[in-house]
Amino acid sequence: IGLSISLAADELPTKEALKKAAEEAHAKFKDEKEGKNADYIPALAKVPSELFGIAIVTADGEVIEVGDVDYSFSMQSCSKVFTMCMVMEESGAEAIFEKINVEPTGMPFNSIKAIEHGDGRADNPLVNAGAIATVSMIKADSPEQRWKKISDYYNLLAGEELKVLEDVYVSEAETNFRNRGIANVLFNSGNLFCDPLEATDVYTRQCSVGVTTAQLAMMASPLANDGVHPVSKKTFLKEDEVPKVLSIMTMAGFYDGAGQWAWKTGLPAKTGVGGGIFAIVPGKMVIVAFSPPVDQYGNSVRAQKAIQYIADKFEYNIF
Ligand code: DON
Repeated sequence: IGLSISLAADELPTKEALKKAAEEAHAKFKDEKEGKNADYIPALAKVPSELFGIAIVTADGEVIEVGDVDYSFSMQSCSKVFTMCMVMEESGAEAIFEKINVEPTGMPFNSIKAIEHGDGRADNPLVNAGAIATVSMIKADSPEQRWKKISDYYNLLAGEELKVLEDVYVSEAETNFRNRGIANVLFNSGNLFCDPLEATDVYTRQCSVGVTTAQLAMMASPLANDGVHPVSKKTFLKEDEVPKVLSIMTMAGFYDGAGQWAWKTGLPAKTGVGGGIFAIVPGKMVIVAFSPPVDQYGNSVRAQKAIQYIADKFEYNIF
C-alpha cells in the first residue's frame, strides 16, 4: 500500500520565480492595444495609457514589483472590498448579507436597473449601489468621522499613510450625478443608512485614494492569509469571514464580466476603473496589476492578461 501526500499546495514559489513570471507578463502585454482609459470621470482620461505595473505580496510578506510601480493610481472600485471588510468587522458579516445581499447583478457596475429589479436592496457590496450602501452602514456621527474611519483603516492595511488624489476626487465629485441618483433611490426604499449625499461623497473620496501596485497588494494581503496581515501580523478579518469576502469577489468583482474572468483565470479578484486589479490566491499571495485602458465592463485589459498569465504559470486556478 502506498500513500503519498503532496505538500506542494502549501509551498510558495521562490521570489525569483515570481519576479521572472511578472517580468514575462509585463513584456508580453505591455504593447497590448485593446481597451481605452475610462473618461466618464474626466481626470481618469488624462492618466498616461501606457503605464503598466505589476506587484505581488506573498503570504509570508515578500514583495515583488515590476514595471511602473511608483505611480499612484486611484483605487476606484478596489476600495469597495476594503470598506466591506471594515463593516464586517464592525457589524458582522451577516449585516452585509442582510442589508445589501451577496448576489451578482449580471449588469454594469453603475446599473440603475439592478436596484429596481429585486427587493430594493443593492444586490452586493461590489457594485456602486452596494458600495455606497456599505459606506452608509459605517457607524459614524458625522461625515468627517465616517471618512476618518475608512482612511485610518486603509492606512493600517497599507502600513503607511495613503493620500486622496484630489484632482480625481474633484473630477468625480463634479460629475457623479448617477451615483447620487442611485443613493437616493436606495434611501427612498430604506436600503441606505445615512444621508444619501454624505454616503455618495465619502464613497467618492474612498475611490480617489491613490495607491501604487505594491500598496494595493499590501492592503489586500490579509485576504490571502486567513485574515492576518503578513507584515504587521494584525488580524483584519475573522478567519471564517475571508471565504465570504472571496465568494463575493468571485461573483461580483468584475460585474457583468465576472463569468468570463472566472472561466479564464479562476481567482477571486476586484477591479477598479482607474486600471487596477487585485487577485487573491488563497493562502498564497495577492497579485496586483495596473494599466489604465479598460474593456467594456470597466476592467483593465493589460492587468487582466498579466494576472491570468501569472496564475496560469503556477496553476493557481481555484476551480
Ligand atoms: O463610482 C464610480 O463609478 C467609480 N468611482 C468607481 C467605479 C469602478 O471602479 C468600476 N470598476 N471597474
